[in-house]
Amino acid sequence: MRATYSSTLAIALGGSVFAAAVSPPTPPAYGACPSNATYVRPASEGLSPEESTWLDWRRPQVVSALQSYLTLAAIPGFDVSAYISTLSATSSAVPVIGQSFSGGGTRATIGRIGFYQSFDSRYNKSVAAKTGGLSQATTYVAGRTVSGGCEATMALAINDFTDVQTLVTGGAFNNSAVPSSAYEILELKAKAGFNLSISDVVGVNEIFYAAKGLLGPTFSSLFSSAAYTNGSVPLPFLIMAEGIPQGLPGSNSYNGILFPVNNATNQTIYEISPIEFGSWQGRAKAFTPTSLLGTTLNAGVPVNQSECVTGWDSSAWVLGAALSAQADWVVIQDTNNTVGEFSRRKRAELAYPANETEIEDQKQAQSLGVFVTEVLPGILTLLGNATIQEVGYGLVANPFLGYTNSEVGLQKQATLALVDAGESGQESPIWPLIQPARKMDFLLVFPSPTLSFFTDLSSSFKSGWMNGTNLINTASMAIANNVPFPKLPNVNTFLINNYTLAPVFFGCNEPEVPLVLFVADAPYSAYSNATTVMRRSHTNFQQHRANACGSILRSLERLGQPIPDQCTLCFKQHCWQGEMATGTPPFVAPALLLSPSTTFAQWNATTWTPAFSATAPNASTTGS
Ligand SMILES: *[C@@H]1O[C@H](CO)[C@@H](O)[C@H](O)[C@H]1NC(C)=O
Ligand SMILES: *[C@@H]1O[C@H](CO)[C@@H](O)[C@H](O)[C@H]1NC(C)=O
Ligand SMILES: *[C@@H]1O[C@H](CO)[C@@H](O)[C@H](O)[C@H]1NC(C)=O
Ligand SMILES: *[C@@H]1O[C@H](CO)[C@@H](O)[C@H](O)[C@H]1NC(C)=O
Ligand SMILES: *[C@@H]1O[C@H](CO)[C@@H](O)[C@H](O)[C@H]1NC(C)=O
Ligand SMILES: *[C@@H]1O[C@H](CO)[C@@H](O)[C@H](O)[C@H]1NC(C)=O
Ligand SMILES: *[C@@H]1O[C@H](CO)[C@@H](O)[C@H](O)[C@H]1NC(C)=O
Ligand SMILES: *[C@@H]1O[C@H](CO)[C@@H](O)[C@H](O)[C@H]1NC(C)=O
Ligand SMILES: *[C@@H]1O[C@H](CO)[C@@H](O)[C@H](O)[C@H]1NC(C)=O
Ligand SMILES: *[C@@H]1O[C@H](CO)[C@@H](O)[C@H](O)[C@H]1NC(C)=O
Ligand SMILES: *[C@@H]1O[C@H](CO)[C@@H](O)[C@H](O)[C@H]1NC(C)=O
Ligand SMILES: *[C@@H]1O[C@H](CO)[C@@H](O)[C@H](O)[C@H]1NC(C)=O
Repeated sequence: MRATYSSTLAIALGGSVFAAAVSPPTPPAYGACPSNATYVRPASEGLSPEESTWLDWRRPQVVSALQSYLTLAAIPGFDVSAYISTLSATSSAVPVIGQSFSGGGTRATIGRIGFYQSFDSRYNKSVAAKTGGLSQATTYVAGRTVSGGCEATMALAINDFTDVQTLVTGGAFNNSAVPSSAYEILELKAKAGFNLSISDVVGVNEIFYAAKGLLGPTFSSLFSSAAYTNGSVPLPFLIMAEGIPQGLPGSNSYNGILFPVNNATNQTIYEISPIEFGSWQGRAKAFTPTSLLGTTLNAGVPVNQSECVTGWDSSAWVLGAALSAQADWVVIQDTNNTVGEFSRRKRAELAYPANETEIEDQKQAQSLGVFVTEVLPGILTLLGNATIQEVGYGLVANPFLGYTNSEVGLQKQATLALVDAGESGQESPIWPLIQPARKMDFLLVFPSPTLSFFTDLSSSFKSGWMNGTNLINTASMAIANNVPFPKLPNVNTFLINNYTLAPVFFGCNEPEVPLVLFVADAPYSAYSNATTVMRRSHTNFQQHRANACGSILRSLERLGQPIPDQCTLCFKQHCWQGEMATGTPPFVAPALLLSPSTTFAQWNATTWTPAFSATAPNASTTGS
């Protein structure tokens, strides 16, 4: 949730109304079921026909974007024209590139947007840094949770991946209060006969910033917009975990509040794109069209042919469901942060002296306390005086009810209780992107730190830095599910080699897995506002040739073409070479690269070339 969430919603619910330009509300509706639809299909079929068709539209655009990008990056000795001609003739060699935006509050939204911008050919500074263009060559993006990654992804997705400058100046991240009148849309939804849950309220609150009306466009409608049908933008995904109802296998709860069991290797990660909703592994192992979410199905067909639901998948609801961590916050608050902790907020995850950890815990308890005592009651009143146990999730009719390909427990469950995937141990929304069917070649992972709830940006710079555990969780889950993923170093190696402070590649020498570029947030300056973070991520990418090499590595391998010497050098310098570091990991409290007393103008005039880890002996002499 954004940093100002509690006060924002408190004000809104308190009745502060201001005039806002909003589009006419369009709540979900019942209608006749399409005669030709596939309501549920097994994941074993691979990509949906729609996604395969879309890839055919997207591929030529990726090739043309790569041509510009590779020309700009100018890898010595690499013949861009010859390579592009080969790609045009060999669609299987076209690189598949993905970007994964993690969660982490406003700072994550801004940070992830900044990463996207730092690879955007429409941003002059990125072009000047020779990084601009990778975003144009990206096929898939995914976002996760607690506003951050989801909001970044959703704001880009519903605005046709317009340039970030336009998004920001257009008010997409305007932190002003949502008018209480915005919530009237929910009354219409309730009157139309649909049950509301916390995702509805949160979604309206969050989508408002995207300046696209009270509920935003339906997520599925994006797929018929020109930007998507002409293949000029990536396909967006949000991910969600679930609370399993009591009495069914895998259920986990505290005081009746459901949350995922704490087992990073046995989770169901649901993905939603404008095309489909479902899971590849885990309980569902099946997909349903996003456009028909909310429809009551049994054994893969509508229970009533005249009661198919459309409009459930508003971008507000989708965002709200992916952000529904509020019930978990109650658990965390009630148990003093001992139960229901977020994956990346575990007390143990902080390599910090106990006194600092306690301070963070106290801050978190205070912020959560404000939410639980001051904000939540208003939300529950809005939801008809429901209890958090009843509505504290993204509730939706379970499309996999009675569907025999899915797990037995799920077959018996009328309603899905979707929650923030951060509760499951997956901090970054990598899961949809590494599914074998998507043939990912190069994955950019932008995780973010943060421990504190609702605290100011600067506090996250003091604590909560990552230690690699969440990526390791993803790798463990990949191994458990036979999903190709690079081998990773252990936590000590992450910390000792500074992999949480500067970009690093994993999987360079494993041709059968996606190449992963891991770019964790690190502090740049005290100017913790939008420009700072964007600029930091932008200046962080002086290793532009390594990025360009990463974008073509797997493709060249598939084509059996030689890897340019410069790329081999870059990978030697920027890849983890498979060795574990020895010694005691440092206390990760990175200093700001600039003194807090530096003036904004002084800061604004600087560029930063990061000193990369000394794992490569010739690090300072290579040209990447
Ligand atoms: C189903 O029919 C509708 C309307 O006739 C059409 O727009 C849609 O493309 C069809 N869908 C499929 C999957 O054939
Ligand atoms: C970016 O660069 C282009 C080409 O040099 C120029 O036309 C444009 O005005 C620049 N945009 C900004 C915002 O500086
Ligand atoms: C942000 O929203 C407030 C309230 O609607 C409005 O007054 C302000 O102009 C908006 N700012 C931007 C940059 O859109
Ligand atoms: C994994 O979780 C599911 C429920 O989500 C459960 O039914 C199953 O027993 C679990 N498997 C293992 C091996 O723990
Ligand atoms: C987690 O799930 C895996 C199956 O994926 C199972 O083998 C393991 O025992 C579970 N761990 C715990 C602590 O339940
Ligand atoms: C949480 O901490 C408070 C204050 O220290 C204490 O009163 C309460 O019993 C604790 N609750 C739990 C569930 O441990
Ligand atoms: C890293 O995080 C894990 C998981 O929370 C934790 O168990 C471990 O102690 C941490 N290690 C270090 C060195 O920070
Ligand atoms: C925590 O303790 C360490 C050493 O015991 C001390 O250096 C540090 O200043 C303390 N931090 C706070 C916030 O009190
Ligand atoms: C919720 O409770 C309040 C106060 O008890 C009551 O006035 C209101 O009518 C209730 N609303 C609903 C929808 O039951
Ligand atoms: C960032 O903060 C500095 C210092 O407070 C301020 O001068 C600058 O205008 C801010 N930039 C933005 C985009 O808010
Ligand atoms: C920051 O630097 C940019 C050029 O990189 C310049 O256009 C802008 O005016 C500067 N902003 C301030 C507040 O100095
Ligand atoms: C990691 O960064 C610290 C602080 O900048 C530095 O002292 C250390 O040498 C770096 N470690 C490696 C392996 O580069």
